[in-house]
Amino acid sequence: MAILEKHKILEKNATLLLIFSFLVVTIGGIVQITPLFYLENTIEKVEGVRPYTPLELTGRDIYVREGCYTCHSQMIRPMRDEVERYGHYSLAAESMYDHPFQWGSKRTGPDLARVGGRYSDEWHIDHLRDPRSVVPESIMPSYGFLLNRVIGPEHIAERLRTDRTVGVPYDQAMLQNAVADFRTQADAFGDLAALQSRYPGAQVRNFDRQPQLTEMDALIAYLQVLGTMVDFSTFEPDPNR
Ligand code: HEC
Repeated sequence: MAILEKHKILEKNATLLLIFSFLVVTIGGIVQITPLFYLENTIEKVEGVRPYTPLELTGRDIYVREGCYTCHSQMIRPMRDEVERYGHYSLAAESMYDHPFQWGSKRTGPDLARVGGRYSDEWHIDHLRDPRSVVPESIMPSYGFLLNRVIGPEHIAERLRTDRTVGVPYDQAMLQNAVADFRTQADAFGDLAALQSRYPGAQVRNFDRQPQLTEMDALIAYLQVLGTMVDFSTFEPDPNR
């Protein structure tokens, strides 16, 4: 009873109540959040997840620059309707190398977390150039200009290094070969084996079907890898988590 009497003092004094509520929320917040910054195993390691290739990373930067995220999320929630529509729910590990991440649930267009491999490159070219040519009711803007914007690897090594400073494990070989890897991925006659030794499963081809390397190549290389790194036919969630 005595403690309830004391609690009355708090309840009757707005300032005191505010101060104590603030204290409780602060302590609770610290207890919950701080361990996440230190625990190495906050994110379950999942086989297959690798850093983006130089070309995919460039495509990802274009995706962010063009604001595709204002209409598209990349996070399949573990709810039945989403899993049936988009595939296996997203794992934290699948976006562990994303800076910035593309989570969200505000969707004007569909979620793109697993769009990789769902359509051909030609479909993507047509769709990005003129969305209404393949989906008549689409309200997506056109991005045909990407086909005319030639890109080069001038800054790609620095770009990888930047991601490395925030924890993406690009190693020495990846940094040294960044320029070569950038070119190889869109070159049907490139050194596939060397690229795949650094980036297992990397897809190599001329994505935009044009001789020059363009922003369209990079963006499609990125779209085609989304959600394809983990093999869900063999994936089993760790039962201890
Ligand atoms: C104004 C909102 C909007 C923006 C911005 C937008 N999209 Fe879309 N997107 C849509 C809508 C709506 C659809 C569904 C109709 C369709 O397929 O065109 C769609 C569909 C798609 C699809 C097909 C997905 C599927 O599973 O069928 C892809 C891929 C795609 N968008 C990529 C992009 C990319 C890449 C960008 C940025 C360059 C972008 N979108 C920007 C609205 C948008």
